[in-house]
Amino acid sequence: QTLSLVFNPSLLNLQSQIPNQFIWPDEEKPSIDIPELNVPFIDLSSQDTTLEASRLIAEACTKHGFFLVVNHGVSESLISEAHRFTERFFDMPLAGKQKAQRKTGESSGYASSFTGRFSNKLPWKETLSFRFSNEKSGSRTVQDYFSDTLGQEFEQFGKVYQDYCEAMSSLSLQIMELLGLSLGVNREYFRGFFEKNDSIMRLNHYPPCQTPDLTLGTGPHCDPSSLTILHQDHVNGLQVFVDNQWRSILPNPKAFVVNIGDTFMALSNGMFKSCLHRAVVNRESARKSMAFFLCPKKDKVVKPPNEILEKMTPRRYPDFTWPMFLEFTQEHYRADVNTLDSFS
Ligand code: SIN
Ligand code: FE2
Repeated sequence: QTLSLVFNPSLLNLQSQIPNQFIWPDEEKPSIDIPELNVPFIDLSSQDTTLEASRLIAEACTKHGFFLVVNHGVSESLISEAHRFTERFFDMPLAGKQKAQRKTGESSGYASSFTGRFSNKLPWKETLSFRFSNEKSGSRTVQDYFSDTLGQEFEQFGKVYQDYCEAMSSLSLQIMELLGLSLGVNREYFRGFFEKNDSIMRLNHYPPCQTPDLTLGTGPHCDPSSLTILHQDHVNGLQVFVDNQWRSILPNPKAFVVNIGDTFMALSNGMFKSCLHRAVVNRESARKSMAFFLCPKKDKVVKPPNEILEKMTPRRYPDFTWPMFLEFTQEHYRADVNTLDSFS
């Protein structure tokens, strides 16, 4: 109990000395002021520029896998409401947040840096993750998750995030059509693959840190998901590793940052990249971001469509399912808390 206090960044934000466990090795310490990454703005409202959009997407995704979408049709009020509730959640006293404490090996719940064992390279953040399925029947809704774990008074939170996840799921299907076009695949193909999905939503809160050059908010990792759709608040922090350099993606409240994850990289037979990225923190302002991780349903076999394999041999990855892949990443990175934290 005391350790969860000592290692929670939201309670350490005024300290001029941070616990050693948060101090990253020299070669991984960040710089905050770095050049901006040039990413295309994809305007989703204009049908007649679809070809141009898919060309820009193909260019960005063969290089680093990151692009921005604007005029995406998700209402500004829903986005700001989701940010407001994120702030309300993380503003609560620790005991309140811990009602949703994530258990080892689970993907849902509240997590701060203290993972129940000693470790170094702790990330300077706290997160709340929960599952989302876009199938109406049978699965537990986001609303149920909030009321069951945090209490009936959190029903409104659940409602807002249910709506937000539904909007993200539809947006990701729209993006899947464009990804199909940019890979020269029938536009229905990937949409169909993800039409039903079992996805994950994660809210991130990065408290201010008095020594931001010593630590990281989220350590370098690639997303194992298929597609990630991120909304950042107005505070800078997201960085991507391209051409051997870290580069920033500056916040833009009107845009979602979209990136290719490992699973889509496999679906494209390696043509579209899942790229290393991280989040840095700063002295002045807390930062919030909301990430929707699109994931295939558990019985879907991840393999590139014939249209890709006809043009491109050999196959780069074996067939796998999402649960197999998660298990593999967890085995593989067991020693690295930060990588683990990036998804499990
Ligand atoms: C962010 O907060 O900007 C990104 C977090 C992540 O990639 O996990
Ligand atoms: Fe990520």
